Amino acid sequence: MAKSAPLPGTSDIFPNEVGAWRFLEETARSVFGRFNYGELRTPIFEATEVFQRGLGDETEVVQKEMYTFNDRGGRSVTLRPEGTAGTMRALLNTDVLNGVEQRVFYIGPMFRGERPAAGRRRQFHQVGVENVGRVAPELDAETIAMLLAFLEELGITGATLKLNTRGVAADRPAAAAALKEFFSKHVDLLCEDCRKRLEGNVWRILDCKVESCREIIANVPDYAGMFSESSREYFQEVCKRLDWLGIKYEIDPFLVRGLDYYVHTVFEITHPGLGAQNAIAGGGRYELTLPGESKPVIGVGFAAGMERLMMVREALNLPANGNEKEPRCVFIAALGEAAEEFKFKYAAELRKQGIAVATELAGKSMKAQMRAANRFNAACAVIVGDEELAKGVAVLKDLAGGEQKEVAFADLKTEIEKLVK
Ligand code: HAM
Repeated sequence: MAKSAPLPGTSDIFPNEVGAWRFLEETARSVFGRFNYGELRTPIFEATEVFQRGLGDETEVVQKEMYTFNDRGGRSVTLRPEGTAGTMRALLNTDVLNGVEQRVFYIGPMFRGERPAAGRRRQFHQVGVENVGRVAPELDAETIAMLLAFLEELGITGATLKLNTRGVAADRPAAAAALKEFFSKHVDLLCEDCRKRLEGNVWRILDCKVESCREIIANVPDYAGMFSESSREYFQEVCKRLDWLGIKYEIDPFLVRGLDYYVHTVFEITHPGLGAQNAIAGGGRYELTLPGESKPVIGVGFAAGMERLMMVREALNLPANGNEKEPRCVFIAALGEAAEEFKFKYAAELRKQGIAVATELAGKSMKAQMRAANRFNAACAVIVGDEELAKGVAVLKDLAGGEQKEVAFADLKTEIEKLVK
């Protein structure tokens, strides 16, 4: 590892890469804004119980992946591994527990101590959305539609939407018993992890990736068929609304999702442009109980991995920053003491008027200054020496075309603007 490399699974984001991030962030703000979502910014760390209770002690994230440490008062705190639990904690300050709807989205870093691999990071970034306070299939369908609108606006094509229902808590014991009975018959063929899951959390066997387990899983009984009529109807109502919108989906009985708070609808978006870590986004409806609360917060939402969105856009050959025209700058080159004063003052004046300006340090040769102009990718250069100053003009050079002309100071700003825009 090079001395200056960031820790495994983390990255520095350099200025030339930031355009791609802004493009994702601004597209998110624009799309979610049209669905009346407002941005929420919560702390990057929370009391550890928020995640333990919120995500469930049994989840892999809580058991193995959290960055947990004691803060100054000895309280255990954790870097957020996801955004839903912290968002719910924040929204307890509103009327969500009394059924008043809140629509929020968030953008920011999340932390999971996973083994780094392509698309799997220890610090990654999510764009997430939560619709909180009410239960209705309409809201699940609208949330999924919003995720697809976001992907569409990012130019992402070829993604697959997978959908399943987890029922509600009361539906699960009978279904889990049926699954347990089924898997117990094949216990010898299950991987070691799945044998443990058979005792701990039988649902997690359904998304095991081991080939020999997959062969068994393919024949599981129709557990969703055992859910109550109202749960089955709920799911049908979600699907009906997706059909109204012409949204294509695959019902995937093996999709259970890794977090324990889900009920009813769960979904995931995958893309072939990613490798093994092929989920761009995931979410669903949830009931999440926070420490000290007896009533769960209910909602529906999703999060999309920003690094993965970028990987997919790259695989599709889409321009990283969405073809946004980067603002170009004007370079001011000066030779001589008086010209130096002009450069310093004129740069300040142009910047005040909204034009980006680059310069090189005083005393450098004209050649060195023009090299710097290239380095800054300037659109044009204003060149002044004491002689030009005396005449009240500057030389304005179009660095793309190479033409240059003398321009009177009075007209200079207008001429620069034509070239930088
Ligand atoms: P999640 O499926 O754990 O769900 O994460 C959502 C997305 O974050 C994944 O589909 C993936 O794109 C990205 N992601 C997760 N872990 C990593 C990682 N280690 N490296 C890179 N990207 C990653 C949640 O986090 C839920 N809170 C989503 C949600 C919101 N459900 C309801 N509301």
